[in-house]
Amino acid sequence: MRRKYVIAGNWKMNKNPTEAAALIGELKPLVNDARCDVIVGVPFVDLPAALEAVKGSKIGVAAQNCHWEKSGAFTGEISAEMLKSMGVEYVIIGHSERRTYFGDTDITVQKRVRAALDAGLTVILCVGEYLEQREQGVTGEICAMQTKIALGGVSGNEMSRIIIAYEPVWAIGTGRTATAEQANEVCALIRDTVSGLYGSRTADSTIIQYGGSMNASNAAELLAQPDVDGGLIGGASLKPADFAAIVSSADNA
Ligand code: PGA
Repeated sequence: MRRKYVIAGNWKMNKNPTEAAALIGELKPLVNDARCDVIVGVPFVDLPAALEAVKGSKIGVAAQNCHWEKSGAFTGEISAEMLKSMGVEYVIIGHSERRTYFGDTDITVQKRVRAALDAGLTVILCVGEYLEQREQGVTGEICAMQTKIALGGVSGNEMSRIIIAYEPVWAIGTGRTATAEQANEVCALIRDTVSGLYGSRTADSTIIQYGGSMNASNAAELLAQPDVDGGLIGGASLKPADFAAIVSSADNA
């Protein structure tokens, strides 16, 4: 049986709470009959509005990061426990923008993943190579290493609450999508890595998304790949019709 598809929007630092509620209001009727899982990843301040707006729909809500401690002297941070207490179900961890601009490392990503699982959240774990790394031919090593370190300390049972998003950094926000073959090749390699850690049964049931300039026109081809189980979508997730078109591509894949 094919794994279910998970289509997640990553709104990044876009939309205030009023705009978030409006966007979800537009999206809701468009994805009402979706068979795949649909998630919106919104800024922290939009979480209450988003949780309210998704009521009566099947849309899940994700935060875009969390701290690894439960509470304490960490000015400006938000804990996984806090997210869980609001009713948030998902958290994106290790996005390349966090790694590149905000000092996230493989080790801090590992700590955040651990904290999110402990709080009862489901993680969307992002891994992916820079263009220079792809050009040097080390994409496989980089993605395997990021995956292994992030999952250090995660049990096989907990893997049902880990979604992995393969996001080549050179494809994010650039309009330059990985080819379907490139996306599938690395998603398969990440699955092999998961298999090495937890065995093939766990690997076969792990959801592995592709992210990086996925849009309404290229989604179908990417999602038709055997190892691509969904998408993490930035720019196109801010346009309800485009995001809904990606959701229906998943349903028809
Ligand atoms: P993009 O972003 O779809 O705008 O390339 C994807 C992401 O950063 O998750």
